[in-house]
Amino acid sequence: MRRVFIEEIANFEGEEVALKGWLFNRRSKGKIHFLILRDGTGFLQATVFKNDVDEATFKEADHLPQETALEVFGFVKADPRAPGGYELSVRGLKVISKPLEEYPITKKDHGIEFLLDHRHLWLRHRRPWAVMRIRDELERATHDFFLERKFLRFDAPILTPSAVEGTTELFEVELFDGEKAYLSQSGQLYAEAGALAFGRVYTFGPTFRAERSKTRRHLLEFWMIEPEAAFMTHEENMQLQEDYVRYLVERVLDRRAKELELLERDPKKLEPAAEGNYPRLTYKEAIELLKKIAPEEGIEPLPYGEDFGAPHEAAISRRFDRPVFIEKYPAAIKAFYMQPDPENPELVLNDDLLAPEGYGEIIGGSERIWDLELLKERIKERGLPEAVYDWYLDLRRFGSVPHAGFGLGLERTVAWIAGLHHVREAVPFPRTYTRMRP
Ligand code: 4AD
Ligand code: MG
Repeated sequence: MRRVFIEEIANFEGEEVALKGWLFNRRSKGKIHFLILRDGTGFLQATVFKNDVDEATFKEADHLPQETALEVFGFVKADPRAPGGYELSVRGLKVISKPLEEYPITKKDHGIEFLLDHRHLWLRHRRPWAVMRIRDELERATHDFFLERKFLRFDAPILTPSAVEGTTELFEVELFDGEKAYLSQSGQLYAEAGALAFGRVYTFGPTFRAERSKTRRHLLEFWMIEPEAAFMTHEENMQLQEDYVRYLVERVLDRRAKELELLERDPKKLEPAAEGNYPRLTYKEAIELLKKIAPEEGIEPLPYGEDFGAPHEAAISRRFDRPVFIEKYPAAIKAFYMQPDPENPELVLNDDLLAPEGYGEIIGGSERIWDLELLKERIKERGLPEAVYDWYLDLRRFGSVPHAGFGLGLERTVAWIAGLHHVREAVPFPRTYTRMRP
């Protein structure tokens, strides 16, 4: 008998198949037991009729505890009443293992902390199932998108000698003989070396930020996608970001509709993001908009020259039905490597992309300084040690060209697309200021 997966069950209508998986849920009605099975690819109702199986099997089906591992045999039937439209009409069961203790996650409403304490088991349930499949789709769509655009996948190191974004958020690692390294905050500096070697590259890896914040947007460990391209301008950088985010949203709408439905995420809310035409505000315009909407939003307006906090970004992004760019920030509040705006050298050629509905920043990007002397000056101004950046400065010594790139935070993007309240649900095992387990 052919072993099949729930995901592909529709292809086997009328056939007798074998399914390997776990018992997720069970109820009985007179001469029928309804078993909800899961096999990782989906959830399926299996019906055990008294007349279809031998007496021992019928009896056993009524006593199996949740998370019993099983092999189930039966006929695939289309049934509009069954969730998903198909069910398995059972002819036989084989128990592979029974839980040794009572399964801790029951039907009652557990608090989020309890569920996170049991994350290793909670992953088996419907909500994490839908979220992780959306995350997986975004990862695959990322590789497809950059492959189509002829970007080389380029892996940056995790152990690094220096800061990229700022020195306060670094996790220190003890090496040998008192020597120290840091967990990477961003693969960008290495991606720049890659761009000058291969033209167009993107990194996709874990990044670390020692942030003592308990917001719903901050993780200590998150995954970032960082494209970088030689000769790319600020304008082209923003276009690439828009094309990429559109592509991601389209893919999820197209291939993960069932998962969005399970999460009660209205696809209509995502459709504008799949259309493109993302509005663009300058930093200055965003400050002015904030001044206007601050009273309604119940927040303080922001003085010109300060960086947006989460409430400001949320307020701005609630005003738009699709992602919105904020570009050209004052150089003083941004990273040392950003190229000045030729029209106003107080500003830099950078942008943040804010997701709508209050989700806030999902991308940060910029053109990079490509002039050796200017870059040295900025490193000095910021009090950074020039010696550790010597290799990075070499990129400006040998065949320097204008180049640009950006970083998209995977978990924040998952949270927005899946409609999650907190980024901790967007990653299998979240690491936050208050959680390191399991
Ligand atoms: O804006 P950031 O700090 O930009 C950089 O790291 C640049 N070096 C990227 C580049 O130009 N190559 O971070 C980029 C994105 C943010 O927009 C956000 O989505 C995500 O990374 N991010 C976080 N996600 C979860 N938890 C955190 N603590 C995050 N910090 C940043
Ligand atoms: Mg940023």
